[in-house]
Amino acid sequence: MAMASNVTPLISDHKRYAESLLVFLKLSRNIEVLEDWISSYFPEKIMKEIKAEKEKELMVLGIGSGPGQVECLVLKQLLKHWSKITDTVVEPNLFNINTYKGLAANETQVLDGVSFDWRQQTLQQFRQETQDRPLKKYHFIMLFQVLYYFEDLTEVFEYLKSILEDGGMILALIECDDCCIPLSTRQFPQFKMHDAVSTSDVEKAVAKAQLQFVKHRIKLNLDATGCLEGESKEGELLLDFLTQSPFIKETASETLYSDVIEYFKSIVLPESEDGKKFLRCDCDAIVIKK
Ligand SMILES: C[S@@+](CC[C@H](N)C(=O)[O-])C[C@H]1O[C@@H](n2cnc3c(N)ncnc32)[C@H](O)[C@@H]1O
Repeated sequence: MAMASNVTPLISDHKRYAESLLVFLKLSRNIEVLEDWISSYFPEKIMKEIKAEKEKELMVLGIGSGPGQVECLVLKQLLKHWSKITDTVVEPNLFNINTYKGLAANETQVLDGVSFDWRQQTLQQFRQETQDRPLKKYHFIMLFQVLYYFEDLTEVFEYLKSILEDGGMILALIECDDCCIPLSTRQFPQFKMHDAVSTSDVEKAVAKAQLQFVKHRIKLNLDATGCLEGESKEGELLLDFLTQSPFIKETASETLYSDVIEYFKSIVLPESEDGKKFLRCDCDAIVIKK
């Protein structure tokens, strides 16, 4: 198999990462699909289970919050029950955290009651910075599509357990095992992508950290037509996100590039219609209680 030359991880190019993430969110209809789920399943099965008094301030931690759309949907639900929330946002990418700040500023009225503690840092940096301080605990921790970027998942969950209030909950969203990104990550290990972390890895880590969890599947199809056919800036950004490699069209060898395109074409969903090419992008919600 052809080797990738000059291919660096997308995560280290903050601008390109932020741009390609927005394309991915749009083409997978991530926000619309999750909005439905967050207004139905979330209040019934998750929010109700958080053991924190209504009158108290709810302490929330968001890790890898990105541009914040999904977390804001969750905050709006939480506000229906708790009128005061402090949300600590741990997000290393400057472009993403700025987008989130802009969104929060535009929605001050609906998010009235939430005070944000913005931390432009990785979870590892956040841990280091807070380790000598009195332990702060949280009632609800959100980890949406971020677990790919940690080396030792069990250790991460052990840490999260230590900062989770008794009766608190963690909600992690993760690509399911047969979703297009983990599949391609396994197929092309020569990219310096993040590890091919998917649901089963998270389940093992959560169990090792002796936490109880339930799982719920959320169906997402990604419209990859523009990336697999023709030439467009949007298609290139999407392919960068799928391979977690910035400017892959320019940096990968021709052979590798065409291998990648052919691979994605081979896993296009059969139900793709109207000339559209959809890839499976389902995610699992792992709901963890303490
Ligand atoms: C796939 S995006 C998900 C964004 C958002 N949670 C969502 O679901 O739309 C992953 C996010 O994790 C952030 N991230 C990457 N490594 C991280 C780390 N070590 N600690 C915290 N966040 C990290 C990235 O900057 C990015 O914004």
